Amino acid sequence: MNRTDTPVTVIGLGLMGQALAGAFLKAGHPTTVWNRTTSKADGLVARGARLAPTVGDAVAAGSLTIICVTDYQAVRELLGTSDVELDGTTLVNLTSGDSAQARETARWAEQRGARYLDGAVMAVPPAIGTPEAVILHSGPQADFDAHKPTLDALGTVTHLGADHGLASLYDVAGLAMMWSVLNAWLQGTALLRTAGVDAATYAPFAQRIAAGVADWLPGYAEQIDSGSFPAEVSALETDARAMAHLIEESEAVGVSAELPKLFKAMADRSIAAGHGGEQYPVLIEEFSRAPGPPTTGPVRACQGARFSVPVASSAPAGAFTGRGVPVSSRTNSGTPRASARARASCAYPAREKQRQSADSVMAVSHRHSTSRRVAGRTAGSTSATTPRAARPIPDGGR
Ligand SMILES: NC(=O)c1ccc[n+]([C@@H]2O[C@H](COP(=O)([O-])OP(=O)(O)OC[C@H]3O[C@@H](n4cnc5c(N)ncnc54)[C@H](OP(=O)(O)O)[C@@H]3O)[C@@H](O)[C@H]2O)c1
Repeated sequence: MNRTDTPVTVIGLGLMGQALAGAFLKAGHPTTVWNRTTSKADGLVARGARLAPTVGDAVAAGSLTIICVTDYQAVRELLGTSDVELDGTTLVNLTSGDSAQARETARWAEQRGARYLDGAVMAVPPAIGTPEAVILHSGPQADFDAHKPTLDALGTVTHLGADHGLASLYDVAGLAMMWSVLNAWLQGTALLRTAGVDAATYAPFAQRIAAGVADWLPGYAEQIDSGSFPAEVSALETDARAMAHLIEESEAVGVSAELPKLFKAMADRSIAAGHGGEQYPVLIEEFSRAPGPPTTGPVRACQGARFSVPVASSAPAGAFTGRGVPVSSRTNSGTPRASARARASCAYPAREKQRQSADSVMAVSHRHSTSRRVAGRTAGSTSATTPRAARPIPDGGR
């Protein structure tokens, strides 16, 4: 059967579901649709879709059913009724949710005879059907492979591994990156505005810093995966002193210090646990467990004096680049610590991790880099092993 002859069903015709069904129609797939509010199918029916009278009829129309509704509760309500026969269907659930919901729904669907793939749409509806639309899937590889030729109509489709929770986890991990970058930029923008520097002037400078920091990730990831955090260039306690400086500067100019206080509290806990002499990624241990009682101590509770590198607006941009340089742990000839502390807290099996291709991981960033225009890594960017001080320094824009 030609791939465009494969019938497909789409349940849920909100903004995203309509885009998904429209992409299948555009690719030539016989497309059956169903929505609680029937009128939302009108445009699709005009383009050749068949409107099923019931959910059960929609699922029975073919061997591949895509569902994309508000939440997992709606998924269960819609597919849990007695007239819906899931046996023999591959159900691809592109509804947003968390990893526990994904795994539970996989078990629930499989008990009813369905093959189940969970998914996360890393794109906005207008991008669906274009390569910019990255759609993550997790669940059995064979089920993904069987339907990839059909799913390709939606955009760049990716399989992350057999654990049904992976797509949701990548989704929220991407959100963590997005909001962290945006919040850091807003902190800096607020600081610079106190000196009359407008947001547009700082933005290109911040973009370059964000891209430079992104280059550190592979080297830092090696430290985390090996559970070994030698301070090759900078120790955590050095970073903590700089954090105190950021807090003091913010408070001195009347800018919120909530965000830097939050990450300094985590650094302080790690230092108190004896990790002050290790490199920044040792903080993975703080991120890998639920926090204890909130740290409410004074800002300068951490040891050490005020950070002394000049970072005033009159300083050259290079002053920002003198600390915290991550270098690849490949430069360490030592054997990774057997304890591999961070790895012990890893939420999914190592063999699953190995199944995730570099393409999969890079694809995750597309949602935000294409639809939200968040600064990301660029082709040809500097290697993770390049010392920070050796990289091109933003010139501050105009
Ligand atoms: N839009 C985006 O940019 C975007 C991006 C990535 C992921 N997503 C995810 O895609 C999913 C759908 O988003 P959307 O933008 O399409 O939302 P939407 O426009 O609000 O549509 C929600 C859909 O869910 C249906 N629905 C909700 N509760 C239901 C219930 N109890 N029974 C039957 N149907 C129910 C609605 O039916 P009615 O039409 O009858 O109300 C509608 O089809 C969400 O999980 C969202 O997080 C969206």
